[in-house]
Amino acid sequence: MQFPTSRLPRPGRARRAARSLAVAAATALAVTALLPTGQAGAAGTSLRSLAQARGIYFGASLAQSDLNNPSLTAVAGREFGMLTPANEMKWDTTEPGPGSFNFAPGDRIASYAKANGMRLRGHTLVWHNQLPSWVRGLPADQLRAAMRRHITAEAGHYKGQVYAWDVVNEAFNEDGSFRTDDPFHNALGDGYVADALRTARAADPNAKLYLNDYNIEGLNAKSDAMYRLVKSLKSQGVPIDGVGFQAHFVVGQVPASLKANLQRFTALGVDVAVTELDDRIQLPANSAALARQADDYAGVVRTCLAVPRCVGITQWDVGDPDSWIPGTFPGYGAATMFDNGYRPKPAYTASAAALAAGAHHLAPTD
Ligand code: G3I
Repeated sequence: MQFPTSRLPRPGRARRAARSLAVAAATALAVTALLPTGQAGAAGTSLRSLAQARGIYFGASLAQSDLNNPSLTAVAGREFGMLTPANEMKWDTTEPGPGSFNFAPGDRIASYAKANGMRLRGHTLVWHNQLPSWVRGLPADQLRAAMRRHITAEAGHYKGQVYAWDVVNEAFNEDGSFRTDDPFHNALGDGYVADALRTARAADPNAKLYLNDYNIEGLNAKSDAMYRLVKSLKSQGVPIDGVGFQAHFVVGQVPASLKANLQRFTALGVDVAVTELDDRIQLPANSAALARQADDYAGVVRTCLAVPRCVGITQWDVGDPDSWIPGTFPGYGAATMFDNGYRPKPAYTASAAALAAGAHHLAPTD
């Protein structure tokens, strides 16, 4: 661990730091002892309960078909206190034809969440992907009306059931310009983001409203663009409550600037959340890679706990068998905290230990 020179520990501090490190190490050992492979979730040691005790949530995403997999749901219900539907609240499912709404798949996931005492992250209202073709072809005035109708209907349908909405997903190119292949930006200009946020606020005044993206976890051109956008929205009084950092990482490559980046966003007066965490490994995953992955996961947990307005962490998918990674990145996988038999991996034990050793930083939210 490197300290910036302005925060070098003084001798008294060093003793206290050594003491708290010893306590943390002992707690981590205790958690590790409680969590041998295959026995995760012993009383009080699930990720959801450990996270809740620290004032954050730990969540996962799942798809409707996953609800038929008892190995998967056993882990999901035990370990996660927040649920994101992987596809079921996206536009192609919820409004496949103009004004023709289908909330049945999303409702099924919402019922599962409710039955298991989990909260819901709504994902997502406005996104260029998984968007029916009829939306793409609309002229600007009709597209604006369609966007408002969609947000009003969907956020209205789930009013009171959703903790937070990813209102706009993946708005930016890697260089920080607005996404080129985005029909909303192409037709409506930069203002579509504010329009979407205002419409969502009117539809569900109590849901937290987020902008969500990938490759914005570290300090870079894309996160600079998100930062400028959030700053500008705040200065105009546009309702924006949080920024979601997807965090689709490659093992060993979690950006060193993650904490500084989250902190600059919270300084703008918004919450931050890790919304789609996974950490892919080139297959076959050996024990060294799994150990590095454990460090990555624990590092993300420690970073969230160190940033007071980091409200929680969501892993994308539940276990390696249902992960999207192998299908999208051939040769890569093993990206979650649960192995092919839904048994906890070193990343699970390390995340649980980091939660157990961390300091409480917010009022309980789960
Ligand atoms: O619905 C069709 C089905 O009719 C067809 O038979 C089947 C054949 O392949 O495809 C089905 O669609 C798939 C869809 O998931 C629903 O299962 C798509 O092919 C598949 O590409 C799609 O993948 C989803 C992906 O978003 C699409 O962008 C993943 O499940 C989902 O996990 C993933 O999630 C995204 C987040 O929303 C945003 N951030 C990145 C993240 C990972 O890509």
